[in-house]
Amino acid sequence: MRAIRCEAYGGPESLTVRDLPDPTAGPGQVVVRVEAAAVNYPDGLVVANRYQVSVPTPFTAGSEFAGTVLSVGTGVHTVTPGDTVTGASFTGAFAEQIVVPETALAPIPDGLSMIDAAAFGVTYRTAYHALVTIGEMRTGDWVVVLGAAGGVGTACVDIATRLGGRVIAAASSEERVELCRSLGAVEGIAYEKENLKERIKSITGSGADVVIDPVGGAYAEQAIRATTWGGRYVCVGFANGEIPRIPMNIVLLKGAILRGFEIRTLADHRPDVVADGTAAIERLISEGMRPHVSGVFALEDAPRALALMQNRAAHGKIVLDPTV
Ligand SMILES: NC(=O)c1ccc[n+]([C@@H]2O[C@H](COP(=O)([O-])OP(=O)(O)OC[C@H]3O[C@@H](n4cnc5c(N)ncnc54)[C@H](OP(=O)(O)O)[C@@H]3O)[C@@H](O)[C@H]2O)c1
Repeated sequence: MRAIRCEAYGGPESLTVRDLPDPTAGPGQVVVRVEAAAVNYPDGLVVANRYQVSVPTPFTAGSEFAGTVLSVGTGVHTVTPGDTVTGASFTGAFAEQIVVPETALAPIPDGLSMIDAAAFGVTYRTAYHALVTIGEMRTGDWVVVLGAAGGVGTACVDIATRLGGRVIAAASSEERVELCRSLGAVEGIAYEKENLKERIKSITGSGADVVIDPVGGAYAEQAIRATTWGGRYVCVGFANGEIPRIPMNIVLLKGAILRGFEIRTLADHRPDVVADGTAAIERLISEGMRPHVSGVFALEDAPRALALMQNRAAHGKIVLDPTV
């Protein structure tokens, strides 16, 4: 099978296509034919060895996929060959086949294509819990989404709009803001040109109720300064590369609530809450919610797809299709 291998840490250009033996399923494991693999921001960090967890080389890149079960190992009871599934794995998804524990798989919600199924899991679960579980978003809230045209960002705009939030989408260009308006944002801020804090204040009057921040850097403090009293700021990631340092006097004066969110640790500590979120997302999917997929690339184009994301040129999600 073909696989996108990281043999030495580096940028996307360091990845290589290799032919590897097909995987086999050990006890409790499942081999899946990968029919779509989503490109996620951490995939590039893992390849560059800049992620929180280091993966020894060589390894196959990619962490999120959808496909069809090819074979199962002993003791597997929840899936059988021919089932269509989505799954997450730290590495290994940018390949024609992947072997994962049975517990890494979930059925594809009704009505989703393979491409959409691969694209929605990480970003939509992240967005839902950042907004609802951690951000405690309520109908009518002013919700500011930073990096709103990216994967997590578009999912936040989409979900917050569907749940009755008034979304202010913040992105680096007017064109990227326009995409977010098409997904439901009622206001937009091109934060490279406009003053984020002043614009949030002038749009909302009293300030933002919820801020979702997958970007970090200097935008974080500006956004916190523009929250209403008791507003919630949710730290989701640092796509900007700079971890913000917030003066605590602002937090005190604004009565602001700063909370961090990571999907992995929520799943470890509150699997019940994660299950409720999955059910809520599936309800929204049944009502027509779909991820915004702006590009589908062949497996060999994984380096180009990762570079697009790192260069802030991707809109929503990019997906690889190893079947072409
Ligand atoms: N906490 C969790 O559980 C969780 C889950 C998934 C992802 N994340 C994290 O959330 C962040 C966003 O992930 P994503 O999948 O939405 O990525 P993405 O699709 O690449 O979106 C990130 C957005 O950040 C903005 N950005 C600002 N400065 C940037 C820079 N220097 N380089 C790249 N992008 C920059 C870009 O929008 P503009 O150009 O418009 O500013 C881009 O659209 C990442 O840090 C990721 O690790 C966290």
